[in-house]
Amino acid sequence: MAKLGVNIDHVATLRQARGTRYPDPVAAGLLAEQAGADQITVHLREDRRHIQDEDVRLLKRSLQCELNLEMAATEEMVQLAIHIQPNSVTLVPEKRKELTTEGGLDVIRAHKTLRQQIPLMQQKGMRVSLFIDPNMEQVKMARELGSDAIEIHTGLYAEAKNPEETQRELLRVRQAAVLGKELGLWVAAGHGLHYQNTRLVAEIAEIVEFNIGHAIVARALFVGLSAAVREMKQLC
Ligand code: PXP
Repeated sequence: MAKLGVNIDHVATLRQARGTRYPDPVAAGLLAEQAGADQITVHLREDRRHIQDEDVRLLKRSLQCELNLEMAATEEMVQLAIHIQPNSVTLVPEKRKELTTEGGLDVIRAHKTLRQQIPLMQQKGMRVSLFIDPNMEQVKMARELGSDAIEIHTGLYAEAKNPEETQRELLRVRQAAVLGKELGLWVAAGHGLHYQNTRLVAEIAEIVEFNIGHAIVARALFVGLSAAVREMKQLC
């Protein structure tokens, strides 16, 4: 069974929408953990639109399971990660106006900065993962940069408009996963996964971790967070 990382950003989105103290993402993280989440994932965005620095600090102190911090590859964020020390850091691209992370990080283009940043975090005991598109050259560069893991962006698979496109995108995800594993990387996947499209990706044995957020928090409105996490865990 693959590891399930539950992304709780959108609990914080709801809180920030009104500037209230509820719903509390830390409480959500603890509940998700009790329901079987193997890790809690949060994306601390540069514009702090949902998760706040204090949420990350509190989660790190409260969770028994692992905390995976998604963040942009900037000097500010690297310093913050070094300070808070989550178990793992996933480097993602970030555009201020985007609704959500729109594509993988171009690790070929960013190789100079990444080569400096990755060891800084690894030396402090954090595992580093790079969120990349299912592209062979990106996977090879992730390996060359010494990252511990890759997270394959499943957005195009999730948005496929017909069965042919779905199969084509699924194949790209599978090929990237196979190569990642061959190169000795820990292979995760995520983005846009929900209760209908996760099963097919979960059949790819090389993928050993999924990070899923929006669909779980949305389903939680109807069945509660614990049931939403348990149902997704079954699919993984
Ligand atoms: N993995 C990464 C690296 C992400 O940036 C996101 C979105 O923040 C997710 C997983 C979760 O995506 P979704 O909310 O679509 O499940």
